[in-house]
Parts: sequence; C-alpha cells; structure tokens
Amino acid sequence: MSDLLAKFDPLIEQRQAILDDGLTDPFGLVMERVESPTVAICNGQRVILLGTYNYMGMTFDPDVIAAGKKALDEFGSGTTGSRVLNGTYSVHKACEEALKDFYAMDHAMVFSTGYQANLGIISTIAGKDDYIILDIDSHASIYDGCALGNAQIVPFRHNDIDALEKRLKRVPEGAGKLVILEGVYSMLGDVAPLDKMVPLAKKYGATVLVDEAHSMGFIGEHGRGVAEAQGVIDDCDFIIGTFSKSVGTVGGFCVSNHPKFEILRLVTRPYVFTASLPPSVVATAATSIRKLMSGKDKRAHLWENSKLLHAGLKRLGFTLGTDDPQSAIIAVIMPDLPTGARMWQALLDEGLYVNLARPPATPAGMTLLRCSLCAEHSTDQVSEILAMFEAAGRATNCIN
Ligand SMILES: Cc1ncc(COP(=O)(O)O)c(C=O)c1O
Repeated sequence: MSDLLAKFDPLIEQRQAILDDGLTDPFGLVMERVESPTVAICNGQRVILLGTYNYMGMTFDPDVIAAGKKALDEFGSGTTGSRVLNGTYSVHKACEEALKDFYAMDHAMVFSTGYQANLGIISTIAGKDDYIILDIDSHASIYDGCALGNAQIVPFRHNDIDALEKRLKRVPEGAGKLVILEGVYSMLGDVAPLDKMVPLAKKYGATVLVDEAHSMGFIGEHGRGVAEAQGVIDDCDFIIGTFSKSVGTVGGFCVSNHPKFEILRLVTRPYVFTASLPPSVVATAATSIRKLMSGKDKRAHLWENSKLLHAGLKRLGFTLGTDDPQSAIIAVIMPDLPTGARMWQALLDEGLYVNLARPPATPAGMTLLRCSLCAEHSTDQVSEILAMFEAAGRATNCIN
C-alpha cells in the first residue's frame, strides 16, 4: 500500500528537530486559562498575550458576554441548519443589521467563518472564464476561493501598483475581471496602497473585493478599515471581514452595495451547504460590532501601543517587517526557523506569547515572530513586553 502521507515526511522531520532541541511545540500550545484579552495561563505559567489578533479586546467585554448568555438561554446551543433552511434566527438578522450600520452599506451576509466568506464570495462571483488579479501575498482563503471557482488566477508583486496595472492591461478584452486586495497584510503588518490600487482597478473596469480582516474595528475613522482610511471605500464592490479578530468571536461576512447582492445567498455553496453560526456567537458579534462603532478612544490607545512597541523593538536592534508602524501587527524577522523557534521559546519562558510564523504561510520563506497588539494592553504591559524581548533576544543572540 502506498503511503499517501509520505509527502509530509520533510515537515515531520522539521517538527521533530524542534522538539529534539528541547523546545515546546510552537504549534501545539494549550491555553489552560484565559484571564483577560491580554493574560493567560499556558503550561502552568502566566503569560502576556501578544499573538491573538484580539485587536480591540472585545472577548471579555461584559455586554458582549451578557448578549451571548442571553441568546444561549433564549435560542439554545445551535441552529442545526443552513442559513437558507432552518438556520436563520432573528439574531443572525440582527447581526447583519449591525454590519450594515457599521459599514453604512446596503447588504451584509454572515458566514460561519471568514475563510468561508472568501471561499464563497470569490468562487461564486468569478468563474471559469473570468480573471482574478490578486496580490501574490494574499491569504490562503483567497487563493482557495479562486481555486474553487476555477477562475484564471493572475498574481502580481506584493503592493506593486505598476505590476497591478501591467496585469490589468493583459486581461483579454471583454473578460470578467475581479481585483482582490487586502487592507492589512497579516504576515508583515503592512498596509496596501488602496487609494492608488482601487481607482486603477476601476479604470480598467474591474470589480474590486477588499479583505479587511486585520483592519476592521481599528483602522479608519469609524473602524471600517484601510479602504475607509484612504478614502476609497465607496469604490469597493465587496468587503470581506471576520469576527475572529477585532470582533472577538468567530464568523465571517461580506458587505456590499451591489444591487444584485441578495441572490448570492442562494448560489454561494459555502453559505448554503453548511450549518449557520450558533445564536450565542452571532449575538456576541452583533453586540461587539455595535460597541466598535463608538471605539474611538480604544482605537487611539491601540495606535499608541503599536507605535510604542515598534519604536522599542527597533531601538533594541530587531529587524521589523515595516519601517514604521502601519497596523496592530508588528513582525519581527528571524534569520531562520531554528533561531526563530529558540527565540519563541525564550519569550515564552520570560512570560510572553507571540505567534511563530514560517513558510509556506510567510512571504519569501521568512520566519517571523508575529506580534499583534490589543487595545487592552496597558502602557506598562508594552514596557514589560519590551523588557522580555530584550532578555530573550540577548539569551538567543538575536541582538547584542
Ligand atoms: C486576511 C484574512 N482573511 C480571512 C481570514 C479568515 O478568517 P477566519 O478566521 O474568520 O476564518 C484570515 C484569518 O486569518 C485572514 O488573515
């Protein structure tokens, strides 16, 4: 019998080498207790959380928790059905209303995850004869959406405006064109030049979809994302987002002003052929989204945290993913995976959890220690985090 898993042997060896070095499995950590959006107990040790994407710290908001408990009591633990059959409750509609109000848009569709939102919308609007022009560093869910719809995929160099234009020029006359961009790219935490790219896509007659997973709630005056901050939100045909970051729960969505949008509910397979989110989840999401509308102070504090951490890490001598702080993600570039794993462990021993990211998820084969800040991190916690980076960096010879 052939071993269908043999193709994973190199990965098995790489993982074993990390464990043989006496390190904790960076991809198998268990949070034994979570005390707040910024503190948890891991492996019996209290750690500051700096790798959760919980940007706005909504997971322990008392109103959010109360809404979830109320929905659990009123509607039960799950819907056991698709959104188009028995799986749409009043709380699902309330959640879509909250999204419409948040974005000031006509339509909102809630999916069970952000992954499914990309998978569903992309594969449904762009089919076999259509062209998808996308940034090469796009998220896996975007690539999977392109593959599911079987469209022609035309990637362009990351954040390169000229490369986008060259690709747009090459699309055959009359063909359907979808340009896919992200507001914030999650690996390096850099922002897209949407103010240039969205008008360019429109000039060539393309439909524009922007994934704002890592900017919703935080970036832009109303927290609508990079498209809002850069003044091009009205030209975006579809915005994709997730509840698993700033909103603080699980789920995904698409908002749009497209007049034919509602038909997508009947033809989008990852919406139709899966069970809808539990009522408690959509109730927490709706409450969180409405609270994010008045999150101006929290957004300002999160920017302060991002600036403080970026400047501090730079001062310590670390190489960062961006020259300046552009989002709530700050990526520390490691020379290789073994060093990255050792530094990750040293930080954990100091009492800090960050994400270890490695290829193929990362661009250009990089190993990254990805830090994501939270609006609930205090200024003192950011100072503690910097002290831990200094100690771990010296212990592993990452800095002098
Ligand atoms: C850019 C981007 N889009 C979509 C997703 C998927 O979100 P979800 O966690 O809701 O599936 C992610 C999650 O990491 C993401 O980073």
